[in-house]
Amino acid sequence: MPRFAYVNGRYVRHADAAVSIEDRGLVFGDAVYEVCQVQRGFIVDLTRHLDRLDRSLGEIRIRAPMSRAALVGILREVLRRNRVVNGMVYLQISRGVARRDHVFPSPEVRASLIVTAKSLNPAINAAKYAAGIKAVTVPDNRWGRVDIKTVGLLSNVLARQQAKEAGAQEAIFVDRDGKVTEGGATNLWIVDKAGMLVTRPADHAILQGITRTTVMDVAGKLGIAVEERRFSVTEMLEAREVFITGATTICLPVVAIDGQSIANGHPGMTAQKIRDAFFAVAEKTVI
Ligand code: PDD
Repeated sequence: MPRFAYVNGRYVRHADAAVSIEDRGLVFGDAVYEVCQVQRGFIVDLTRHLDRLDRSLGEIRIRAPMSRAALVGILREVLRRNRVVNGMVYLQISRGVARRDHVFPSPEVRASLIVTAKSLNPAINAAKYAAGIKAVTVPDNRWGRVDIKTVGLLSNVLARQQAKEAGAQEAIFVDRDGKVTEGGATNLWIVDKAGMLVTRPADHAILQGITRTTVMDVAGKLGIAVEERRFSVTEMLEAREVFITGATTICLPVVAIDGQSIANGHPGMTAQKIRDAFFAVAEKTVI
């Protein structure tokens, strides 16, 4: 079955989809994006993703190319055309197409919108959750505003590649103070020695993950307290559990970091409990 994408007003075959060579997303990484999980025919936490998109656009002063209702219509149509039941939808908004010049183009230049979607096999994910993953730590050398979800992900790309070459599946960024920030494309959580669920406060040094926010809701419903504080690599290595969260990664256990086992080297109960309750709590929007 052919895949389809939406690019600037048109639904096109994915293989034929293209943007201008002067699109500022391509030339400068001058663009923001969102990824939403699709689970059993529902878009997960759509309102929160679109609220964060509005914030990202506002922070870098890109004018949205259309209303929220029109955008949701396009997300649905791309998902339908690709027959996605379980998977993800990706959207990217750039500052548009203009002759290369660092300063913003004139206000008449309209923002570009790209939407793609793909199916993901839930069985493959289930195996990953059962086994857990390995991670490596890397210095966090990103810019100071990673709370804005921009497509400028070069550090994240290099970090994930470094992880892969070390036989691991995620990189864990560590700031100059030796404190953990987040994963290459995920937020990071520990269950500390005292049994407290801990994650870094959502300052400018991490992306305020939508999954992170919903995990807090789920934890609240389950009576699990969450502490937002910074923690060191040493504390993470000595934790009872470590897990990561992202739009297609709902509490994925990290069982070894830098070659060292976390606790007994097996996935922990807290991650599983929260994952089991997650979709009952998350907002679900029918495609
Ligand atoms: N990544 N931190 C970073 C650096 C991320 O790139 C992501 C998401 C997250 C988790 O955010 P959320 O729960 O809202 O997905 C945290 C997406 C999925 C990606 O780039 O593919």
